[in-house]
Amino acid sequence: MSEQRIGGTTGSAQIPNRTTHITGWGHEVPAATLTNADLEKIVETSDEWITTRTGIRERRIASKGETTASMGALAAARALAVAGIKADDVDLIVVATLTPDHLMPSTAVLIKGALGSTRAAAFDLSAACSGFAYAYAVAHGFLTAGLGQRALVIGAETLSRSVDWSDRSTCVLFGDGAGAIVLEALDLEAGQGAASRPGTLSFELSADPSGAYALWIPGGVGEGADPLIKMDGAKTYVYATRTMAAVATAAIERAGLTPAQVDLVIPHQANIRIIEHVSKAINFPMEKIFVNLDKYGNTSAASIPIALSEAVAAGRLKPGDVFCTVAFGGGYTSGAFVTRWGADPAHGARAASVDPASIRVVRPEGGAKADEPPAVLQEFLNAPHR
Ligand code: ACO
Repeated sequence: MSEQRIGGTTGSAQIPNRTTHITGWGHEVPAATLTNADLEKIVETSDEWITTRTGIRERRIASKGETTASMGALAAARALAVAGIKADDVDLIVVATLTPDHLMPSTAVLIKGALGSTRAAAFDLSAACSGFAYAYAVAHGFLTAGLGQRALVIGAETLSRSVDWSDRSTCVLFGDGAGAIVLEALDLEAGQGAASRPGTLSFELSADPSGAYALWIPGGVGEGADPLIKMDGAKTYVYATRTMAAVATAAIERAGLTPAQVDLVIPHQANIRIIEHVSKAINFPMEKIFVNLDKYGNTSAASIPIALSEAVAAGRLKPGDVFCTVAFGGGYTSGAFVTRWGADPAHGARAASVDPASIRVVRPEGGAKADEPPAVLQEFLNAPHR
């Protein structure tokens, strides 16, 4: 199993009497829905192929002006409302994304501005679809080290602007959206063991350079840099099935628990067949695994926080429940964390108090390429029924 966790690091909370817990959550997805039938008009594919190979039925597509920062800011504003705190109560904003609006400034700084925060440190983190697990671990480390009391951890993506819409092997897989949580420091009472301890219990993160060019976006600096996703699907599938089971098992063991003591698994929403494989490999029934990829496709770093937000709203997490998230992605990277839920799910209703019009991301003079949907989707997005 260890060869699946090349470069694996991290462990349980560093300060024995301090951990973190989730007190706010929220998400935002674009209104425009691209179905498999719509995709049949763009590339040579079929609803049958996509559904049987991936489980995806539709995905959301960002319209003009909807960006990684704008969706991330709205998800974050909802998470703040659910936690019952203000932007200036937050010490750190970390955004996991592989589709930032710009290489500089970071998406996190734009979100900070949109939220009206005057004091948080803010930066982006690049770990592809494992980004949310990595960002959660970084925020946990920041808070347990005593550098602050509260962090916003956000996963946000506009993959529709980084997909080659003539490549049927990738364009059918991805979608847009954002999810966010408020993570707060939590001081533990003496003698609380794994069976009852609240909050964050463990992590497992890994990075495997052998997959560097099996799933990648050339992009970066350089004239005419290519911004489109390239993928060796078969190789990535093999990596995904092995690593998801390995890191989930490691994180659960590190928490001092067995799979039977975990109430819900929230996996990265890439492919139902990968999730079913993990279910078998760790002997964890599908009924205890949250799945929403049929509605959103793979939203990369946003997939776990969107799923978490929907799982709470659906009554799948109650105070005292233990959940494990597990992800894999470009790098290759993978990551898992285990947390005991403590918040009142009814607080989720507070998200409705956020007026989307009040959350505005500052754009550069003359607009930005990041605001523009790809030309091939323009007709679909302009259609009167959307
Ligand atoms: N519609 C119809 N046919 C297609 C499509 C499509 N959308 N895409 C590919 N095909 C064809 C191929 O051309 C190929 O045809 P050929 O055999 O004539 O050459 C055939 O289908 C491939 O079929 P399979 O090998 O059976 O496909 P497979 O079962 O491997 O499924 C898939 C492909 C869904 C891409 C799978 O490999 C997979 O899910 N891989 C993991 C991908 C993933 O999750 N990536 C995200 C990583 S997360 C991140 O960090 C971004």
